[in-house]
Amino acid sequence: MGEEKITAKKREQLKKTIARFSGQGEVIALLLAIQREEGFLSRSVLEQISEEKNIPLSELYGVATFYSQFSLHPRGKYVIRVCQGTACHVQGATKIAESLKQELGIGEGETTHDRMFTLEYVNCLGCCSLAPVLVVNDLGVQAKMTSAKVRKLVRELRRR
Ligand code: FES
Repeated sequence: MGEEKITAKKREQLKKTIARFSGQGEVIALLLAIQREEGFLSRSVLEQISEEKNIPLSELYGVATFYSQFSLHPRGKYVIRVCQGTACHVQGATKIAESLKQELGIGEGETTHDRMFTLEYVNCLGCCSLAPVLVVNDLGVQAKMTSAKVRKLVRELRRR
């Protein structure tokens, strides 16, 4: 899953990005830059990095699976991260997550077919007094969520 063929043009573009990073210590920065461009780290992309940087593919997979900010699967334009920490749980986070699942038609960790949305659960976003909360990309914290607010938010994002 998550596999996509790379075109010659894309390969050239990736080559330029890969060349910007030199040392072994820059693997994380390189993977982050590639993920920003591609949306996720496909096997083909990791293979190209492995060839060009002479880094074993297993080592790249090791890094990509260790850090939670990396994704090996396509993600949506909007990544909705709904908090399931204690404070949010007490304030109804389960209901918020259920509303999102219903509204989006996907489960936790899944992406909609149109690649608009990815739904993820996280543990405490550090703003417990605003519980229950969620964040969408870098749009800031959506505070004191309700099922009605969830529906409104998803509709607004679809219209963008
Ligand atoms: S538990 Fe949700 S923000 Fe802290």
